[in-house]
Amino acid sequence: MTVITNIEDLRQLARKRVPRMFYDYADSGSWTESTYRANEDDFQRIRLRQRVAVDMEGRSTATRMVGIEVAMPVAIAPTGLTGMQHADGEILAARAAEAFGIPFTLSTMSICSIEDVAAATTRPFWFQLYVMRDRGFIERLIDRAKAAGCSALMLTLDLQILGQRHKDLKNGLSAPPRLTIANLLNMMTRPRWCLGMLGTKRRQFGNIVGHVEGVEDMGSLSEWTAKQFDPKLNWGDVEWIKKRWGGKLILKGIQDVEDARLAADTGADAIIVSNHGGRQLDGAESSIHALPRIVEAVGSKIEVHMDGGVRSGQDVLKAVALGARGAYIGRAFLYGLGAMGQAGVAKALEIIHKELDLTMAFCGRTRIADVDRSILLPGTFPT
Ligand code: GLV
Repeated sequence: MTVITNIEDLRQLARKRVPRMFYDYADSGSWTESTYRANEDDFQRIRLRQRVAVDMEGRSTATRMVGIEVAMPVAIAPTGLTGMQHADGEILAARAAEAFGIPFTLSTMSICSIEDVAAATTRPFWFQLYVMRDRGFIERLIDRAKAAGCSALMLTLDLQILGQRHKDLKNGLSAPPRLTIANLLNMMTRPRWCLGMLGTKRRQFGNIVGHVEGVEDMGSLSEWTAKQFDPKLNWGDVEWIKKRWGGKLILKGIQDVEDARLAADTGADAIIVSNHGGRQLDGAESSIHALPRIVEAVGSKIEVHMDGGVRSGQDVLKAVALGARGAYIGRAFLYGLGAMGQAGVAKALEIIHKELDLTMAFCGRTRIADVDRSILLPGTFPT
């Protein structure tokens, strides 16, 4: 077997080990996938300035995100159906994040429930909230996250409706997968995954099934979201959610300077510059391209984070250089999870940390606090 040295190695292994329906769900964007591709490509265009003969001793990547100490400016992004990439995936990823000293964010659309993850970890994790029509359910979800000791609530603002994802529609994405001949044949070629799934009871949306009256089977993801997610979500809702939660609040899905100003006015603790990994509005700007303008507009009022296209520690460093307090990894950890479970997520974090630390050093810096746009080659980065 090839030695795993970068995130691409993990992606290739995950593609062999995860049933096609779930691998495709992770590794795709909406419509033509142009924004999905731009998220990665725009990172590549940014060039770094190499510095030499700078004392490199005593480096540290430690910093803070929303006041919480993190071993590097990276958090695990909330991703739906994580427990379908690997049995008990959310628990495994949360444990790997905890061991590394970075935050894990649990999605509303997770397979393992809030309570499952709380029982399997010792440090607080973050919880991501989708707003659905049933407000009573949302209040109960917020209360459950509070009872589980979650240290931040992340409210997603860019998914009132679901972007059209052709691969998921063609694959008939659902959790658990429907046992059609095509799915069964594909799963038979993934014996490791099947064994894991047979060994766990967690195969449905753990935060939802059994917690919403009448929801026993969610059918296809696209139909379910269309029925349940609240298309009326607006800035007024942020207020009651903030009040009900009462803790650190992060607003996810900001791409526009106007929206960033509105988000900062809510008194939230951070925003995430995000296009949902290119999974919602195809044709939207890449996150790294939008980041500097948003930092300039609201960076003095609110902490700015970003996600989208982060596949290496170099990407993390570039995001920090352009003003992000931290960057989130979604696919990068999912590939690790699908490839090798908890060890794969740990590997993804090690890889990113190593790349971040070495690149920071080559750029002549020893601490994250000293990283700014002066490490980037003028003319190669967005402003
Ligand atoms: C959910 O967050 C998705 O992008 O599928």
